[in-house]
Amino acid sequence: MTQEELFKSLVSHAKEYGFIFPSSEIYDGLSAVYDYGQLGVELKNNIKRYWWESMVRLNENIVGIDSAIFMHPRIWEASGHVGAFNDPLIDNKDSKKRYRADVLLEDYLAKLEEKIEKEVAKGRKKFGDAFDEEQFRATNPNVLRNRSKINEVHSRMVAALEANDLQALRDLILDCEIVCPISGTKNWTDVRQFNLMFSTQIGSVSDDAGIIYLRPETAQGIFVNFLNVQKTGRMKIPFGIAQIGKAFRNEIVARQFIFRMREFEQMEMQFFVRPGEEIKWYEKWKETRLKWHKAMGLGDDKYRFHDHDKLAHYANAAADIEFEFPFGFKELEGIHSRTDFDLGNHQKFSGRKIQYFDPETNESYVPYVVETSIGLDRCFLAVYSSAYCEEKLDNGEERVVLRIPPFLAPVKAAVLPLVKKDGLPEKAREIMNMLKFDFNCQYDEKDSIGKRYRRQDAIGTPYCITVDHDTLKDGCVTVRDRDTMEQERVKIDELKNLIDNKTSFRNILQKL
Ligand code: GAP
Repeated sequence: MTQEELFKSLVSHAKEYGFIFPSSEIYDGLSAVYDYGQLGVELKNNIKRYWWESMVRLNENIVGIDSAIFMHPRIWEASGHVGAFNDPLIDNKDSKKRYRADVLLEDYLAKLEEKIEKEVAKGRKKFGDAFDEEQFRATNPNVLRNRSKINEVHSRMVAALEANDLQALRDLILDCEIVCPISGTKNWTDVRQFNLMFSTQIGSVSDDAGIIYLRPETAQGIFVNFLNVQKTGRMKIPFGIAQIGKAFRNEIVARQFIFRMREFEQMEMQFFVRPGEEIKWYEKWKETRLKWHKAMGLGDDKYRFHDHDKLAHYANAAADIEFEFPFGFKELEGIHSRTDFDLGNHQKFSGRKIQYFDPETNESYVPYVVETSIGLDRCFLAVYSSAYCEEKLDNGEERVVLRIPPFLAPVKAAVLPLVKKDGLPEKAREIMNMLKFDFNCQYDEKDSIGKRYRRQDAIGTPYCITVDHDTLKDGCVTVRDRDTMEQERVKIDELKNLIDNKTSFRNILQKL
């Protein structure tokens, strides 16, 4: 199965099993907007809890807030979003499709990288054990040609983006002979800047004075509450403020399912530090956040850092943590050293003094900020896509199993009476009633036990608990493990401990 086919299967699986539905589906949907179903919301809430507890509960110097989506419109002038929150867009005149110019170029670069890797794989196959990869990469003419092309295109792209030179971006697209994936032609328009903020009206008067924006990031709600939290919480620098909430961007190129949405959720933390100490904290948070991702157990090699070539208007250092999605390595989280740009500008635009008196240095200053910003929906996609697995079993049957890390699984255990009679449903209900206060469980008595196992595999339930006739005599049940499919007899009294050991947040949080 190609990666594309796999991706299609996992998108339809998400809908079929109640994880993610296209928004407004009975009205033919709304592009790049999605709804989370009954299982999706459980998985999403578990990811939120993992993030929140790792930030707010494990760090005495980090507290959380929940600020409003609507904010004073001047905030977006101060933050730079009104003036600079733009994407460079280009249209293909034949297909009428619109693309982000920098994404077209990045896809082009990724294809050249792929060519290099194919050449290296060919060499490995040809030379077997004698293959010297380093030497091959340094001398093979095809590899060298593609590498030098990558370097040339990359540096021209960075220069054009940094200089905001839209004509240079277009020239580069033409020079690279990039074609529209739909029409196959090079019939491109000029590149134009497009602001990504949604606006609406507040109050009853519809004039410019009533225009407000739907926040494009949650961070600004933290900055404008800096003094409130610092004073009421008696916070001492260095300290952080965390927030989980919705953000909105009018993404023109909405692609790849929940990867790029118009309404999405962010989990952001702004860490306030002494000026001059920001790079030390930036490095620390890069490391801490990578550890957080790896602790989920999706595979260490699925993550890599990507340092930004073009820094956002507020940053003096920035990196992405990229994840290997089914469509390649893409940004999952951003870590940014935002300097004193935001607090400084809010001080200027609001006319209020936003400073911190440092009792250790006896100085007042505008703190510097290191931000960690992760898209909740992207994190969901990372967990879900790496969990999705179509398996052929020893007995020739096939199953779809979601190997979701057990602590994040939407349902922790399914309680299944072997048959719908002989007092087994009543016993199974008793077990449900015992477990439901600690774990999200499902009761299922319909169809054969094999079919019920498959249904639970398909939603990633770590344990199936089967109640049979012996249960009534010996007080034991059969517990089947989702991943190994092994079964063991367990005393009903021991179930709680067993499920807890497998699924508790504690075990993961202790690793951090
Ligand atoms: N406050 C900084 C900020 O918003 P960003 O890199 O623009 O930085 C942070 O966004 C994270 O939000 C990204 O790494 C990504 O995970 C997520 N994100 C951004 N745009 C998104 C979109 N359109 N759909 C889903 N997630 C998105």
